[in-house]
Amino acid sequence: MSPRVAVSAVLSLLAVSKSVFAQDSDTGVTSTFPATPLASKTFSYPSGIPYQVDEEPHLIRGRQTGYNQCNSTTEGQESLCQTSFLNSLDDFCLWGSPEANSIVANTEGEMVAWCTKAGRGTRVIPRDALKGVQFIRTPDYVQVVGFIDQTKVNIQAGDYGGELDPHGADLRGNPLGGLMYSNAFSGSNDTYQQIIEWTNFMGSDAFCFKACDPAGPNAAHYCEHIYDRIGCAYNMPNQAKNGTFEACKGESQDYPGVYTENGQVMTYSQPPEGVEPSPTYTPRIPASSDCITFSSQELYTASVSGESSSPSSSGSASSGSRTASSGQAAVTSGPSTAAEDSQGAANTVRMTKAGLFGIMLSTFFFV
Ligand SMILES: *[C@@H]1O[C@H](CO)[C@@H](O)[C@H](O)[C@H]1NC(C)=O
Ligand SMILES: *[C@@H]1O[C@H](CO)[C@@H](O)[C@H](O)[C@H]1NC(C)=O
Ligand SMILES: *[C@@H]1O[C@H](CO)[C@@H](O)[C@H](O)[C@H]1NC(C)=O
Repeated sequence: MSPRVAVSAVLSLLAVSKSVFAQDSDTGVTSTFPATPLASKTFSYPSGIPYQVDEEPHLIRGRQTGYNQCNSTTEGQESLCQTSFLNSLDDFCLWGSPEANSIVANTEGEMVAWCTKAGRGTRVIPRDALKGVQFIRTPDYVQVVGFIDQTKVNIQAGDYGGELDPHGADLRGNPLGGLMYSNAFSGSNDTYQQIIEWTNFMGSDAFCFKACDPAGPNAAHYCEHIYDRIGCAYNMPNQAKNGTFEACKGESQDYPGVYTENGQVMTYSQPPEGVEPSPTYTPRIPASSDCITFSSQELYTASVSGESSSPSSSGSASSGSRTASSGQAAVTSGPSTAAEDSQGAANTVRMTKAGLFGIMLSTFFFV
């Protein structure tokens, strides 16, 4: 959120919460903001991670509900692990709710990591929950966009969801204390770097999740988090297809909210809470190439009991089929067939205000 939005959101939170907390003086709530914003806290993986990174007990949103030290004792479908990963097509986590049938807007502060692989002390995304996933690596970030039966990660059917990021109106992140790591930028699958800038939309049986290279000069722009109510189509313009599992290379997108119209670079402003965002531009879908497609079975083999049959990276790549993606590569600038398709009826954007920190959208995709 921008500072102005953050301040107004916090003020409205304070206004609403005043009566609650006035009678709750015994809870000792003294402040809204932590001494150090979550996005400024860095920890090496795994040994540098404390039990909880959000350890101030007297802040207005309450305590961090889960923990960041996650290991074999925390592994399983009751895990409250809040340390997440985005490595590759077959190895990523999404934020889901701890309790079944939850609304994202009501549980975003408490969300926990659900991962495609066992072994990191988290919950495991149940087999068959993922219906289609596109992983893209660009010079500036890695990104997964896909389709999911969201009830399998405890999000209520039909919930249009919201956005998670390490900032939040009170700079404690959503979820509070949520950490993110990746081996995608370190040059070694065994070396994990903390991802400082990331954003994850969950809802409408879809998701998109971008992790920006911590060494990238524009990480905060590519992983901009202020456009939290206009969804994947604007924040991570993509051509992910339901039923397709593929890993691609790609160009970097335009910064979220930035677009070019008649040769002029423009910046969209999301209106304040209470006003429905209705952006009139169509974001450029960046070119992708070298896509390798897989069948889902060979990718997601972790079982919910926590065992993983660990698909070998050698086996899966050779059995996948290479897909030429010249069609996608053509969609680089200006109006295009794909972009025009996106104006179809299925793409109606509905917006509803659903909570103080609520950040929602209905339609995620241009496909
Ligand atoms: C495993 O994680 C739990 C929960 O964070 C923590 O209390 C415990 O100390 C960890 N165990 C080891 C051996 O690190
Ligand atoms: C690293 O992980 C990726 C994605 O799973 C895989 O394709 C690659 O072969 C791995 N590299 C090594 C050296 O194991
Ligand atoms: C994706 O396809 C599956 C069928 O494989 C369908 O059940 C699901 O509703 C689709 N998801 C979306 C968001 O369209």
